[in-house]
Amino acid sequence: MSSVLRKILVTCALPYSNGSIHIGHMLEHIQADIWVRYHRMRGHEVWFVSSDDAHGTAIMLKSEDLGISSNQLIKNMRKEHQIDFLNFNISHDNYYSTHSLENLYLLRKVFRSLNEKGFIKEKNISQLYDDVKKIFLPDRFIKGICPICKSKNQYGDNCEICSATYEATDLIDPISVISGKKPILKNTKHLYFDLPYFSKMLQNWIHSGVLENNSVIKKTEEWFKSGLKAWCISRDAPYFGFKIPKYPKKYFYVWLDAPIGYISTFKNLCFKKKELNFNELWNEKSNYELYHFIGKDIIYFHTLFWPAILEAISFRKPSRIFVHGYLTMNGLKLSKSRGALIKARDWIKCFDSDSLRYYYASKLSNKIHDIEINLEDFVHKINNDIVNKLVNLASRNASFINKYFDGYLSSALSDIKLYKYFVDFSSNIENFLENREFSCVVRESMRLLDIANQYINEKEPWNIERTEKNILELQKICTMGINLFRIVMIFLKPIMPDLAIKTESFLISKLTWNSIKKPLLSHQINKFLPLYTRISLKKILELIDFSR
Ligand code: MSP
Ligand code: ZN
Repeated sequence: MSSVLRKILVTCALPYSNGSIHIGHMLEHIQADIWVRYHRMRGHEVWFVSSDDAHGTAIMLKSEDLGISSNQLIKNMRKEHQIDFLNFNISHDNYYSTHSLENLYLLRKVFRSLNEKGFIKEKNISQLYDDVKKIFLPDRFIKGICPICKSKNQYGDNCEICSATYEATDLIDPISVISGKKPILKNTKHLYFDLPYFSKMLQNWIHSGVLENNSVIKKTEEWFKSGLKAWCISRDAPYFGFKIPKYPKKYFYVWLDAPIGYISTFKNLCFKKKELNFNELWNEKSNYELYHFIGKDIIYFHTLFWPAILEAISFRKPSRIFVHGYLTMNGLKLSKSRGALIKARDWIKCFDSDSLRYYYASKLSNKIHDIEINLEDFVHKINNDIVNKLVNLASRNASFINKYFDGYLSSALSDIKLYKYFVDFSSNIENFLENREFSCVVRESMRLLDIANQYINEKEPWNIERTEKNILELQKICTMGINLFRIVMIFLKPIMPDLAIKTESFLISKLTWNSIKKPLLSHQINKFLPLYTRISLKKILELIDFSR
């Protein structure tokens, strides 16, 4: 990596306001947060934002269910989501809402610009309508038999069995999820964005390095095969969202104002941080890098619609789209539609935040395969890696330093070559972190810890006679152990911020990337206090039992 300072904006996909944050959402925010914290450690200018996605039919129906207004629901949810993210040390610089004045202002501006440039067309269509509930049905509220493979119980947009995409009206024997009745066809007028106009630009763009992952590129290419279609950006009342000017009873589709939420959340941040300049980031020739972290279910929106809209309004496009797979638990998809989820706020009652962050890191890479969370494996990994290897290295050496040397580290290391090996390894760790190969960071950190612990085992400080002749050697060996621990903790700091803070107070020294080369010598450390305690399955098993 060059030492040139970079300017970066990182976003996470905006969670919907109709449900709690679960540990699947948290995977994305933890992945992004590790990346962000690493880049901050390297001294880059990094801004990290996300927001609630507050609009759409699902949110309207949910608030009706609860007997509160949609406004109240999204207010409650945003507060809850913000607390969840804080509990897991997600260091967003701003966590906003798409139901904001900034978003409304930008959405109207975008729409005006699209209109003026001739990218919006009207079309009359007939759509599935729930005549009981008096509402046009979004694709996700229609179920039926897949027209291609004939699987039952498939949604109105695509088949989860054969992956075919189709129109809701193609479903065989459709049923409204809301009323359970057969929907009727009803005529309506809608607004469409001219996506096909951007086909060529998009095809070039997806091959320009923005999607580093081949399977993401392949997925995106699939959509070009049958030719891009105009994208419907309006919805009929009743709807919870922003109204379309001059179109009574029409609302903007939530997926138009949601990504604009990336921009409006940044705009809101600009009000709070005077050093920020809105145009400097969003202009076509911007020097800022822009990264969107998203799950593989929303690739479509981020690789086609979003860059096309940005191109159309002459805004800059993302530098990269970072796609991750799904978190699964015992083979169950933890998505809202599937039900089986552990909420972030329940999880945090059973475990600390660093443990989940570490576990996710140990599984995360830049690939898009799903990640299975297995509770026994989780507990075992944390106790084995964090307690037995990492913290143990500090505690066994600190005990001598505290007891016989009044907390003072020696003025030299016992094995400079070994220390240098750890220092030199940092360039590999840098590459892993930069490329989001977090599982490699974890694996290699554990390998280094094995080496360090092995070194101490061989030197057997507990068997060294504390004679005048030997005592300095004992101090040097334990100083070596503490310094190797310190280097690994610098590598792991973006992953485990709580443990990093405790370590800094134990070492009375900040864990910084620039200080890797320079060992802590002739320096007094604090009395060792347990940095981390073993975790157990007990609480979470009670919780899962309880929620069944
Ligand atoms: N509101 C849209 C995103 C709009 S972005 C302009 C949305 N919301 S969501 O709440 O359903 O999902 C938010 C993010 O969480 C998405 O990136 C999604 O892929 C991710 N995840 C939701 N469930 C997940 C798992 N079980 N595992 C990993 N990520 C998951 O989509
Ligand atoms: Zn099918």
